[in-house]
Amino acid sequence: MAAKARIFAGLFLICIVLPSLASAFVDHLPEVGQVNEFDNNDVPIHVSTVTHFSEKQVKEALIRRAKAMHDLWANFRYNDKNAAPEEDAAPVTPTPVDPTPVPVDPVPVDPTPNPVPVNPVPVDPTPNPVPANNVPAGYPGATQGPPVAMGYGGAPITQNPSDQQTVPEQPGAAQNHPTPEEIKENRKHAGLQVGFSDYTCPNAEKIIKDGMTRAFGNDSSMAAPIPRLLFHDCFVNGCDASLFLDKTPSGARVEKLAPSNGATVRGFELIDEIKADLEAECPGIVSCSDLLVYLSRDAFVVSGVPYYDVPGGRRDGMESLEANVLGNLPLPDSTVDKMIDLFKKKGLNEEDLVVLIGAHSIGVAHCFSFRYRVDDPVKATMVDPRLAGVMKFTCTSPMSTLAFDTTTQYKMDSIYYKQLSGKRALLESDGLLNEDPRTKDFIQKFGDDEKGWFTKLGKAMNKLASIQVLTGDQGQIRKQCRFVN
Ligand code: HEM
Repeated sequence: MAAKARIFAGLFLICIVLPSLASAFVDHLPEVGQVNEFDNNDVPIHVSTVTHFSEKQVKEALIRRAKAMHDLWANFRYNDKNAAPEEDAAPVTPTPVDPTPVPVDPVPVDPTPNPVPVNPVPVDPTPNPVPANNVPAGYPGATQGPPVAMGYGGAPITQNPSDQQTVPEQPGAAQNHPTPEEIKENRKHAGLQVGFSDYTCPNAEKIIKDGMTRAFGNDSSMAAPIPRLLFHDCFVNGCDASLFLDKTPSGARVEKLAPSNGATVRGFELIDEIKADLEAECPGIVSCSDLLVYLSRDAFVVSGVPYYDVPGGRRDGMESLEANVLGNLPLPDSTVDKMIDLFKKKGLNEEDLVVLIGAHSIGVAHCFSFRYRVDDPVKATMVDPRLAGVMKFTCTSPMSTLAFDTTTQYKMDSIYYKQLSGKRALLESDGLLNEDPRTKDFIQKFGDDEKGWFTKLGKAMNKLASIQVLTGDQGQIRKQCRFVN
């Protein structure tokens, strides 16, 4: 009888108790365990919305992506008989192939992570056509024709994360520029002040500075992209961090997808990291736009510029439109007239333009931004033959990069101005500044007076960072810089 009771108890344990215990555990497994291992992009993903792939689907997707990448590169190759043969080519920074599989089924989030440490060079499975002269849209010298879906200088256009939504009509092109009087008036009432968050979040500026110091310590190229983000944000609808938005409630294509941004802007992951630190310390206090302004100062400081005070108090915008970018940002082949005009519309003068262009003392440009210069017999006369040689040697692909200042790439110094006056500008637009009577003298001056330039740089950066800012109860303080609250 006792033996029968033991057998019965054993069966009860195996059949009833253990299965229910197991399912109870499964129900409480940490959510992270369910995340698809390939979704290592930094867009927050709600686990419940992630599509899971079978191993076979993943393999097929990887093969498709590799093929798409191959086709894409085949389209990008220069059709240039004069280009240096591959075996002679200098080592260049290749753009690594994104190992993330193309999603098999529609997924509600953009599954493409940022492939380069920097910046998305997304793989479009159906590469865009390259115009007959092999110069892609947006690139100096491109033929006029129907718009092709090609980014700045040939970088593939970034897929809109909102593409799967119904996208409403884009509003009309460029925004209305405020008049110089309106700009002055706006500034007076901007309400920005130094030490803005001293009481509400006393550690804010330190957290931001530490973020930059850490990033620069790990990778010295991480300072340069930040002031560029500020420039590209502030010149398009003001300094409202609209450049950071991955999508907006309207579903329209966002600023960061515009050809002038696209593959050439980077640093968004660093912003996300520091914003998370700030939110952990004091939630809802420091805006993404203030974060960018402080971080730009710190990027310059780690690169050798003396510290300068930066007023805070900006709030974040809630819209971001690709259509607003066109016509507001200069291009690598912009004329001096065009640059001066764009800067004037934002309340910045010729001197500010030359002061700020000194930011090109650090950072890199992609070959599609300057390589064309040495193929054009007239434009080539503006390039020092030694630099022309380096350009040809380095540019084995439009996506290769070259430092603006090859002597002190990570240091903000006035050597760059010396280069400009010696026809060693990487960009045509920078070189032109040394030819024009309205800007040439500033280049000479700052080349000889680094300290004087540094002083002006802090002031010009603060002018830049106060363009059409939102303050008071305008806009919002975003919780995450990529999304409106
Ligand atoms: C005024 C006319 C300007 C033009 C035409 C211009 C154009 C460019 C271009 C074409 C690149 C390289 C893009 C690429 O191929 O990857 C670049 C990079 C850069 N620009 Fe400008 N820029 C201008 C003004 C500014 C200003 C005002 C700032 C900052 C205050 C700035 C900061 C930078 C930095 C730091 C980089 C390097 C970015 C990196 O390494 O990721 N630029 N710019």
